[in-house]
Amino acid sequence: RIAGPCSIVIFGVTGDLSRKKLLPAIYDLANRGLLPPSFGLTGFARRDWSEDQFKAFVRENVEARCRTPFRENTWKQLADGIRFVQGAFDDPQAFARLSDTVSELDRERGTRGNHAFYMSVPPRAFPVVSRQLADCGLARSAEGAWRRVIIEKPFGHDLQSAKELDRVVSEVFDPSSVFRIDHYLGKETVQNLLALRFANAMYEPIWNANYVDHVQITMAEDIGVAGRAGYYDGIGAARDVIQNHLLQLMALTAMEEPVSFRADDLTAEKTKLLSAVRLPRDLAAHTARGQYAAGWQGSHEVAGYLDEKGIDPNSTTETYAAIRLDIDTRRWAGVPFYLRCGKRLGKRVTEIAVVFKRAPHLPFESTATRELGKNAIVIRVQPDEGVTIRFGAKVPGGTSMEVRDVSMDFSYGQSFTESSPEAYERLILDVLLGDPPLFPTTREVELSWKILDPIEQFWATLGQPQPYRSGTWGPAEADEMLARDGRQWRMP
Ligand code: BG6
Repeated sequence: RIAGPCSIVIFGVTGDLSRKKLLPAIYDLANRGLLPPSFGLTGFARRDWSEDQFKAFVRENVEARCRTPFRENTWKQLADGIRFVQGAFDDPQAFARLSDTVSELDRERGTRGNHAFYMSVPPRAFPVVSRQLADCGLARSAEGAWRRVIIEKPFGHDLQSAKELDRVVSEVFDPSSVFRIDHYLGKETVQNLLALRFANAMYEPIWNANYVDHVQITMAEDIGVAGRAGYYDGIGAARDVIQNHLLQLMALTAMEEPVSFRADDLTAEKTKLLSAVRLPRDLAAHTARGQYAAGWQGSHEVAGYLDEKGIDPNSTTETYAAIRLDIDTRRWAGVPFYLRCGKRLGKRVTEIAVVFKRAPHLPFESTATRELGKNAIVIRVQPDEGVTIRFGAKVPGGTSMEVRDVSMDFSYGQSFTESSPEAYERLILDVLLGDPPLFPTTREVELSWKILDPIEQFWATLGQPQPYRSGTWGPAEADEMLARDGRQWRMP
């Protein structure tokens, strides 16, 4: 799977995402031999840079963050195809220059009219960039060539704005050439979820309401919002990651087996699942919000959200969100899915925990099972990628039978010598190959907003989210939410 001749144009190339993820991923793809010699990379930005200054910028970010070794040969090969276009998104002349640059790449690098446009820009810029691409003729390809557009989340801030954005983008690009990025779908462990469920015989028979008590999906981060205040404030934790990453994880955990892993078949199952999601009737009892206050993250003292640079001191934006969702299908009737995410929590960890019911009968003395919890299969998405199975085992020795929880672990690092590519590497390569299974469709995006909108509307009627100390596991409200159901959050 090596990309054919093509180029990528990045809008918003000087931004955080581009510096930290996109440029290093493109270099790593080149270094792994997955990009063709005839590859071009064009940055489009306001800064008044020469091509050499732009190349120096790309090199600095690549060297700082690439996952494969930095090699002068790879760099030279890539750098020869790097171009820079200076301009604003609303400047037709800048787009005319972009069009010339792209044609020049076709002639000089042999990119053959195949170009992908990466919108690493805020959603409000999608319409203007799309229109400019249409007006300068870049959105439509010549016979036998392709044009694709890559759209970063957030795809709107609610159902209505998502529909509007979709309308604007689809006026310019054919739906089959629009790739919406949810970078969680590019993570190895997320794809392994499909392998775990559908390549094995032993999980599916118990993956249902007969055996599963509930499911917890956690995305905890230790970082705050520093540096991203402009994006984050007013958006909040739920729109930032529940609407996309966590609902996608839930869909993959709970959906039925797809006929194949082709895009249409996968999306058919995810869509069915997302359509069957039911919100709690009492949103006050089954959702929780929090906002981080000052505290300690390891040995560092950190500021509270309201004191972060660029944050409105009266902001009611949540940095922690937890919700309960139910799925109205035979497989999942009565099994709650608890989703939680937050910034400045105890540690960085994303996991999916499928927690099982207790055995129907325990033929032990009651004291023997005091330390026996519920069985669980925990898919460790990151950072320590792998799977843990929790179950009870006999404590050695003693005169009576005593049972205690133990773990059985599979760890990627120990079981495989192959290294995992970064999610963005995988996804960028898939766009260049025109391979759509790992990209959510419009329908999935809209269904996800449909789930989140009523919760956001309810939260908008509340005041300040409950504060939690940085470095802890979130607000008391979230613990109470589970306690009401007679359950508690796992400590990852
Ligand atoms: C992004 C969110 O989608 O995912 C960020 O906008 C978050 O707020 C990031 O920090 C986390 O990604 P990862 O891959 O580090 O878990």
